[in-house]
Order: sequence, then structure tokens, then C-alpha cells
Amino acid sequence: MRAFLIVGNKAVTKPFNLNDLAGSAGRMDIICRCIAQALFISHGIRKDVEVYVLLLGEPDPPKALKIVGSEVRYMAPDERNVGGIIRRALSLNVDKKWRKSTPGVYVARKNLCDLLEELNVRYDVIYLREDGFDIRKVACMLKNPLFILGDHLGLKEEDEEIVMKYAEMIVSVSKLSLQADQCIVIVHYELDRC
Ligand SMILES: C[S@@+](CC[C@H](N)C(=O)[O-])C[C@H]1O[C@@H](n2cnc3c(N)ncnc32)[C@H](O)[C@@H]1O
Repeated sequence: MRAFLIVGNKAVTKPFNLNDLAGSAGRMDIICRCIAQALFISHGIRKDVEVYVLLLGEPDPPKALKIVGSEVRYMAPDERNVGGIIRRALSLNVDKKWRKSTPGVYVARKNLCDLLEELNVRYDVIYLREDGFDIRKVACMLKNPLFILGDHLGLKEEDEEIVMKYAEMIVSVSKLSLQADQCIVIVHYELDRC
């Protein structure tokens, strides 16, 4: 299995305007692109991938999304379609337990610690950051990795401290600072070569 956790520092926690994903929805466009790049191949979905999203924007943070590749149905890779699926999940009442919204899509009230406590049991936590170990040197040693990425703002210092309590390694995909969805594509590329 492979998993990705994207931290959306400003991504809103209530239903949002699909015509303004990059503005009033708090850069939900980044989240949508990350989900699409993590899950989709040409004419199919990676069934061995899970995507987690931590939504920290107003008005009701934190909320978390879980998208399970093997269960997803009726999702298309365009931002608007993924955005619609997120919007529907955000219309549900949440508590600490995952609640199913649409096939393969779950929502819960979880913060970063909650998520990492849960995921740490099943995955090796890898923090993606520009100054980490070259992914090409470590990719084939990673068995069940969970890759953590920030959005356009990266990770806040306090969130980075939490991640570092769980992370086995910091890994870099390039010497350049890339967009989060570009990092996901490179991670898949490198792991698919193994
Ligand atoms: C657009 S970047 C964040 C830029 C933000 N200004 C910062 O300084 O953190 C989004 C996320 O992609 C990941 N990332 C970007 N470039 C990377 C690289 N070369 N190697 C590994 N991860 C990278 C990091 O997790 C980062 O938080």
C-alpha cells in the first residue's frame, strides 16, 4: 500500500463554491489536484493507494478526509469533480469516527496527531521536504509508506514538530521546491520503477 497525507492549511471545512476552488475555498484546487494525481492512472484508479487530507481552514477545523482507491466509484480526475465530492463530504456532521460520504470517501473530526496515531500503525511515515534524502536512493526500500506533504504554505512549525515525532525519514523528490501534486507524481514514478 501507498498513502499520502496532504495538509490544507487554509482549505475550508464547510461546503464551498466550486467556481472558486483557489480563492474562497482556501486553495482547495491544490487538494483536488493532489487527490487526482495520487489516485488516477490512465483509464483507472490505483487500488493500492489511500489519500488523507487534513483540512484546517475556517469555519470548523480540523476535519479529515480519507479516500480509499480500492473503494472509489464515480470519481473523475478533474478538479471540479473531485471538488464536488469533497464538498459533499463536508456537508455531513462529523465526529471522531470515519463517516462514509460517497463510495470510498470518508470524513471525520481528526487533527494531525489523531491521524498520525491511526496511520502510524499501518504505514511508515515519510515527510516530503526539499532537503531530505534523494527518493531514488530509498524508494525501493519503502514498503508501506505514508508520504506527508504541505500545501502552498508548507507545514507550520508546530505541525512539522508533530510529523517529526512519527517520521522515519525526510525524503526529497527534487532540488527544486515543487508543487505538492507534482511531488506526488514523482513519488509514484519512483516507486513504480522498483
Ligand atoms: C509548494 S510546496 C510548499 C512551499 C512552501 N512555501 C514551503 O516553504 O514549505 C508544497 C509541499 O510539497 C512538498 N515539496 C515541495 N518540493 C519538494 C521537494 N523537492 N521534495 C520533497 N517534497 C517537496 C513539501 O511537502 C511542501 O510542503
